[in-house]
Amino acid sequence: MLSFEEAKARLENAGQSHVLQFWAELSAEERGKILEEISQLQPEELLEHCRAAAAAASRHSSADGRLDERMEPVPPEFIGSVRKSNKETLQMWGDEGLLQISRGRVAVLLLAGGQGTRLGVSYPKGMYNVGLPSRKTMYQIQAERIQKVQDLAKMKHGCKCTIPWYIMTSEFTLGPTEKFFKDNEYFGLCPSNVVMFEQRMIPAVGFDGKVILEKKNKIAMAPDGNGGLYRALVDNKIIEDMERRGVEYLHVYCVDNILVKMADPVFIGFCVNKGADCGAKVVDKAYPAEPVGVVCRVDGLYQVIEYSEIQPETSELRGPGGELLFSAGNICNHFFTRGFLKEVAEKFESQLKQHVAIKKVPFVDGEGNLVKPTKPNGIKMEKFVFDVFQFSKKFVAFEVLRKEEFSPLKNADGAPLDTPTTARRSLLAQHYRWALAAGANFLDEQDKPIPPKHSMAQNEDPPAVCEISPLVSYFGEGLEHLLKQKNLKSPFLLDENEAKNLVQTT
Ligand code: UD1
Repeated sequence: MLSFEEAKARLENAGQSHVLQFWAELSAEERGKILEEISQLQPEELLEHCRAAAAAASRHSSADGRLDERMEPVPPEFIGSVRKSNKETLQMWGDEGLLQISRGRVAVLLLAGGQGTRLGVSYPKGMYNVGLPSRKTMYQIQAERIQKVQDLAKMKHGCKCTIPWYIMTSEFTLGPTEKFFKDNEYFGLCPSNVVMFEQRMIPAVGFDGKVILEKKNKIAMAPDGNGGLYRALVDNKIIEDMERRGVEYLHVYCVDNILVKMADPVFIGFCVNKGADCGAKVVDKAYPAEPVGVVCRVDGLYQVIEYSEIQPETSELRGPGGELLFSAGNICNHFFTRGFLKEVAEKFESQLKQHVAIKKVPFVDGEGNLVKPTKPNGIKMEKFVFDVFQFSKKFVAFEVLRKEEFSPLKNADGAPLDTPTTARRSLLAQHYRWALAAGANFLDEQDKPIPPKHSMAQNEDPPAVCEISPLVSYFGEGLEHLLKQKNLKSPFLLDENEAKNLVQTT
């Protein structure tokens, strides 16, 4: 750790002397904490970061740097589609994916360093329980999907296999995530196959180019965006770990989509079959202002333009048939080969764009009083995970069905969209559809039949409550022999025990 003099010199060189302005008032412990924080900031990087943030903020409000004029949709031949492909083709991709999984070549990588500010909980989003009958959290659902897809690959190819689970956390999420996994015995997974690592944090900067102090002895720090992945891979030697395990293909995804298909064999198989080094799952955008990035091309290179960076007029552009021109909504599910990740992390990371967010950042004033600003006062810089698409030699997009694959948990209940209620509803609606397709009938509390409903609006609850454990079925497979012509009383929870009971009564 640095001494006071070293820290002072380091800050002076970076034009940040104000960070130690309360030194005389601090206790020994508080002094230790701020010295520790300063020790982690490299002087040149800090100087450059503060300069870049202030410069970016002044550009932020101007039209410079907007890409709208240069955007073009992804040509249809680069988009695979679940909707437009026949059963045999989907089966072929799924088989390819399971083959790769069975050979131990596939891993999943979760981006879980975000603060989940919009959801308004103080713990990591993965620990959230949306109120399913089983009370399972997002992490448990994901862990069980990994187990199930491993089993499917084993059943098909007769060899036991592992899908390592890499989890990128941040200073905010590492401790509680580790504890949660330990307390829950890794949800049945082998702890050595769950690899948690931490992304870097960077200071929030005021419009004057000075880092913001959130306490007398603490700089306001935030994770460096989900594109911080590439530095974190190098910092934590994760690519070497992948190499050791023989992992060739990565499915990278974000924590909050309750319908996420972990290591989806169809997506993996599609990307492998096309020889892609990089791929993105997309859904048809629901409406022009939907807060999802759009996958497109800019000057011939693949890119995602984030919802916060596109002009409303561009989002609303329509093609000849009235369809949205930029309709490929990014659902933050990406495919990368290990080779591509390695190249990006080692060669291109420094070229990734710094995105600017102007935020209200609480700070201590000159007297040391905490101030909660009413207007934005700070600049947060973030890198985005998808900004590496431009370096791909063979990029593909894969369009999937929203109702089967995308229902994100972003906001607290009360908001119109993307809440615990909408996430729960999407999952239960999916499981209800699976049960109906398998031939089940539902009864209400008084044992009266509930008439089946084969199509439901997005915001409609299914007429019966049915939850199916991922340990029983991954994408609706294997249910017919359990559920055909069975009368199931709503609410119905099909877990492994219930599946055994059903087999015995068949
Ligand atoms: C993200 C996508 C957006 C997409 C949407 C779909 C990015 C930059 N944006 O937007 O294009 O349409 O999901 O739901 O990918 N995270 C970190 N470290 C960080 C910041 C975030 O690991 O420093 C993780 C979060 O924990 C989360 C994921 O990245 O799992 C996405 O972050 P979030 O801020 O929720 O992105 P969105 O704005 O929803």
